[in-house]
Amino acid sequence: MSKILSTTPLFEAEAERLGAAGHELWMPAQPGTLSDANLLSRLSEAEALLCLLSDRIDAEILRAGSCLKLVANIAVGYENVDVDAARDLGIAVTNTPDVLTEATADMTFALLLAAARRIPEANAALRDGQFPVWRLDQPLLGLDVHGKTLGILGMGRIGSAVARRGRLGFGMRVLYYNRTRREEVEEEIGAEFVPFDRLLKESDFLCVHVPGTDETRHLMDADALSLMKPTAILVNAARGPVVDEAALGDALAKGTIAGAGLDVFEREPDVHPTLLAASERVVLTPHLGSATRDTRRAMVCLAVDNVLAVLSGEGAITPV
Ligand code: DGY
Repeated sequence: MSKILSTTPLFEAEAERLGAAGHELWMPAQPGTLSDANLLSRLSEAEALLCLLSDRIDAEILRAGSCLKLVANIAVGYENVDVDAARDLGIAVTNTPDVLTEATADMTFALLLAAARRIPEANAALRDGQFPVWRLDQPLLGLDVHGKTLGILGMGRIGSAVARRGRLGFGMRVLYYNRTRREEVEEEIGAEFVPFDRLLKESDFLCVHVPGTDETRHLMDADALSLMKPTAILVNAARGPVVDEAALGDALAKGTIAGAGLDVFEREPDVHPTLLAASERVVLTPHLGSATRDTRRAMVCLAVDNVLAVLSGEGAITPV
């Protein structure tokens, strides 16, 4: 029997699975209520920790887990965990890849379409009693998506899933930039590998799918944004710090790009005021990429599978 700590309430079926395997699980009754002091004291006895992207698991916390064998992050990203410190302390770290790929790609495309066709603006106007007479120069004229050029910055799992939607669903030309060429995606959907500046200059819709690292911080800065078309839309459902929010707010205010669909922000939960002030073709959502019922269940299920595997002496299923 091992003690397991979760920083957040788990779905009942998954909590029961841990109990049925003979483990003792402690989790708070409500999300966001576990204090640092409580975390540190409970961690001292735990062999496994289940946590979220919003939990900062630094070296001090890891050291408090004197019998900790595993940190199971319920997210595909793991920049919240000090992986180097965990390795030094002999603690495994796992994430939840694959199970959230399609949901996050759906969300990316939803943001792209919503910004291009101005759906939030139209929804707000209609609820406000505005249903203009049918006219050719409708005040909420949008941008075509079908047949346009889709730029993918980071052709990993989620980038490839978005590229597939664009090519196969919307007949788009797909350009991409990635650290390494992805020939299988090129063959599958005819995506073209291009230099970073060409991606910026030619994309009608530029979707960010790189991980949040020191190298990708502010990859989309003022210079990069200035290379984009004035009719282009930037979509980011990956990591907020990849985009310089102040520079993006500036570009939107000056009209040097046409719009943005953002699900992630530099300093969540804060959102830069210039982005909050921008409404034309700007759609903002609070980090909902993986937030569907099925996907969240699949993420917790994979994290619990990792806990069970490590505690039974098998290797982690999805180590980082
Ligand atoms: C992840 O898993 O990294 C996502 O950002 C959470 O939705």
